[in-house]
Parts: sequence; structure tokens; C-alpha cells
Amino acid sequence: DRFKVYITRQIPQEGIDLLSRVADVDVNPEDAPLPHATLLEKAALYDGIIGLLTDRIDAEFMDAATQLKGYANYAVGFDNIDVAAATRRNLPVSNTPGVLTDATAECAWALIFAVSRRVVESDAVMRSGSWSGWGPLQFIGGDISGKTLGIVGAGRIGTATALMSRGFGMKVLYTSSSGRRNDILDSQLGASLVPFDTLLQEADFISIHAPLTEQTRHMFNAEAFAQMKQTAYVINTARGPVIKEDDLVAALQTGQIAGAGLDVFENEPNMAPGLASLDSVVVLPHIGSATKSSRTNMATLAASNLIAMLQGRQPETCLNPELYDS
Ligand code: GLV
Ligand code: GLV
Repeated sequence: DRFKVYITRQIPQEGIDLLSRVADVDVNPEDAPLPHATLLEKAALYDGIIGLLTDRIDAEFMDAATQLKGYANYAVGFDNIDVAAATRRNLPVSNTPGVLTDATAECAWALIFAVSRRVVESDAVMRSGSWSGWGPLQFIGGDISGKTLGIVGAGRIGTATALMSRGFGMKVLYTSSSGRRNDILDSQLGASLVPFDTLLQEADFISIHAPLTEQTRHMFNAEAFAQMKQTAYVINTARGPVIKEDDLVAALQTGQIAGAGLDVFENEPNMAPGLASLDSVVVLPHIGSATKSSRTNMATLAASNLIAMLQGRQPETCLNPELYDS
């Protein structure tokens, strides 16, 4: 018998084609997040599900999913999944690390350039027809070359972001939740592992690459912004709630920091009141992994992970590999 698989929203066809070799695949026909109640209804009907970072994969979902053999997240971040609850129920779950590392690091750099060189603001002036010609004091921004880059969370994406600074001769500082040094950053960039407070005080650009956990939630709050340089920028391509967004708006409004480049938000798709009216921010609709190769490879990795789980094998990028230990 063929397996029955549900995908909570259209993903690149390559992943669906791969799954279709072993399963009958149903896809949410709406190009919109699946309502949670619908997700719970679907949970009971399928052997395998591919879901998104907008789907809450909690104990309620798992209790409804009586015949589910595996859940594959179409994302590297997995704060939407209660992994411990899945493990208690013997439900394997997977994510998509590795295939979106460079794309997300490049997105962080797009934000570094855009916010410091005031690209979006300047573009708007050109389009409005109000530019009156070159002027010495127009759109003066922040320097990048030779400045200090602070990486919060030196995992795969943080490491790639730091390595991309080589063309700009930056000094690199990083924090690590494990307290462990990053050999690549140390040997290739002469980077320094520093306490969070030191990074806040010394970096000119702070780029967030930590996962969202209870430890990182609201790590960037009023106290953190107060320690940053007035000329510094904060960049977030990780998860919105790592920043307390109301505090960020206040820090920008009072000039406590110079600017922010954000691809993620505390309460997507909404933004904190006041954020969108600030010239000192560049805001993107969570497009970090949105390149052709990354989105395609996320689809095929999620699909091959799900096929493995359906067939009782350990998926390549499993979040609870201990289920396969015995
Ligand atoms: C996107 O945000 C992801 O976690 O893959
Ligand atoms: C600016 O356009 C310059 O030539 O300095």
C-alpha cells in the first residue's frame, strides 16, 4: 500500500515529485498558512506530514496524529515543534539544515549593506522624483570595511556570515551558547569568543544567528540596546522573538543605536507599532532562504527525510535521532 502524505502549503515541485514515488500526496490548495484547526484535522488522516515554520507541531497535534509515522519541517529552525513531546510519543521529526546556510548568510549581508548605506531610503528618493542632484551631505551612512562584526550564535549560518566578512577586513567577535570556541572562525579569521556583554559593547554590526529558545527569547531588550554603541546596527535573520521588538523601536526612536536590518519579526506577519515608520530600519518578509537552490533543496531534503521516516529509517537530518538508537 502506498503511504498517504500531506503538505501544509505548496512547496517546490521537486520535493512533491520525490514523495510521489512512494506516497499519495495531498497539498493544501491555498497559498496561505493552514489554520491550526485544519492542521489538527489533517493530522489524523495521514502517515506523514511536511509542515512549515508557521505550523505549530505541539502535543495537541501529536495526540490527534494517531497514524503519523513522521513529521518533516520545511525549515532549519524548529522552535515551532515540541521535540521533547514528539520523542515521548516515538514520533520522529526532522528539519532542513545545511541547504540554506549561504542563502541566509547572504541575506544578513544584504541587510548589513542596505541599512548602513541607506539603500532603501535612497531608492525611495530616486523613485519619488525629488532628488535634486549630488550633494556632500546626502544619505551619509555607516562604514563597513575595518569595522567590528559581532556574531551571536556561531553555528552554520553564523559561521558563513562571519566568513563572508573577509572581503571587508572586519574584526570578528562571536558568542556561543555552549561556550565552545569555533575553530573555523578562530583559525580563518582570528575571531574572538567573547561574553555577550562585550559583543554588545564592541561590535559595529551585530548579526543574530541563534535559534529561538527559552534562553534566547528577548535576549535583545532595552538593557542590551543600552549597552550597544550609538553608531551600531543590529541585524536579525534568525527568529523574531530573539529581539523584544517594542524595545528595539524605542532604542531606534531615541537614537540609542543607529539602525536595524530585520528579516524576521516577533509576531509575524505583524510588526511592532512604530517600526515601519523609521528610516533607520530595513525590513524584509522573512526571505532568508528564498533562493532558487535553497528552496528547492529544502523541498527535496524534507521529502527524503519523510520517506525515510515512513520506511522506518532514520532521516538524514533528524531532530530526535535517539529514537533510532536501539
Ligand atoms: C527559515 O526561517 C528556516 O528556519 O528555515
Ligand atoms: C562622487 O561621486 C565622487 O566622484 O567623489
